[in-house]
Amino acid sequence: MKFKGADILTTSQFGKADMAVLFRKALEMEKVLNAQGKGVGKGVGKNKSGRGGKGFSKLFDGKILATLFFEPSTRTRFSFETAFLRLGGRVVSGADMMATSSVRKKETLYDTGRVVSELVDLIVARHPEPFSIDEIARGANVPVINAGDGAHEHPTQALLDVYTIWKEASGKLDGLTIGMIGDLKNGRVPHSQCDLLKNWNVNFVFVSPKALNMPWEVKDDLVASGREFYETEDLNEAIGVMDVICATRIQEERFESAKEAAKYRGIYVIDSAMMKKAKKNAILMHPLPRVDEIAVEVDADTRAKYFDQVRNGLAIRMALMAMVV
Ligand code: NCD
Repeated sequence: MKFKGADILTTSQFGKADMAVLFRKALEMEKVLNAQGKGVGKGVGKNKSGRGGKGFSKLFDGKILATLFFEPSTRTRFSFETAFLRLGGRVVSGADMMATSSVRKKETLYDTGRVVSELVDLIVARHPEPFSIDEIARGANVPVINAGDGAHEHPTQALLDVYTIWKEASGKLDGLTIGMIGDLKNGRVPHSQCDLLKNWNVNFVFVSPKALNMPWEVKDDLVASGREFYETEDLNEAIGVMDVICATRIQEERFESAKEAAKYRGIYVIDSAMMKKAKKNAILMHPLPRVDEIAVEVDADTRAKYFDQVRNGLAIRMALMAMVV
């Protein structure tokens, strides 16, 4: 794909070769973050967690990013915004657009996209309606990046997840068994992850209650790509075969009522006892926020990678925005 000037709306835009280009660029961005003193960035060295530095560059000097969030977010919005700031740009931020934007005055998303694009160089948007970011992109005359459209897709989260797996597996994804656990019906992250991971010869194990199974559109797509999947409700039975364990939360906000969602609360909890059943060299991932899917005691397990994912997300978003703008 051609990155420059492109809207990033769906994972289906990315083939294996595109991911290779993006991941190499993300490795370069990690160098920017980790640089000390002179050079690509003026780093401040390793942070307290030892997970990497906080350097920056001047690539986006004079550029402005707008983030339009019509749905709650902490890490995704901060990740995009800090990524843009670390590349020397500036940010205008709409964190609560449902309540505070002209959408309250019945402005269309098309018009919002058009208007904001007259002011900035790049738009990142999240909205509860599937395909709504496409509408913003239709109006805008600058690139638009989808930061989550309802239960549909979350392309950059899936890209950073695959980047994390790619780094952990030293680029060798073929043959891996990928487990996805939780609300696979409503979770946009597992949908986008499947769409990217089907590019490799991997197997899938889906663990969810029957009512929250992975949608058929996603499974049909895997079959069409020659991939195999196995479905179960029983995490105890399945965790031991997984090389990559992807936990997700029950997407409470997508249920008809809190009562309905409460039926599934605490259904899959990964604690130290559960991790004893997992492979010694497995990795445990989660897009966060976690509710009760992973006990805090597991954070100290060397297989836990969810905080590394946050760092990897910063590098991936720096890389993607650098290539698009
Ligand atoms: C995910 C999301 O918003 O879909 N979070 C994120 O972006 N890191 C997962 C979730 O909310 O469960």
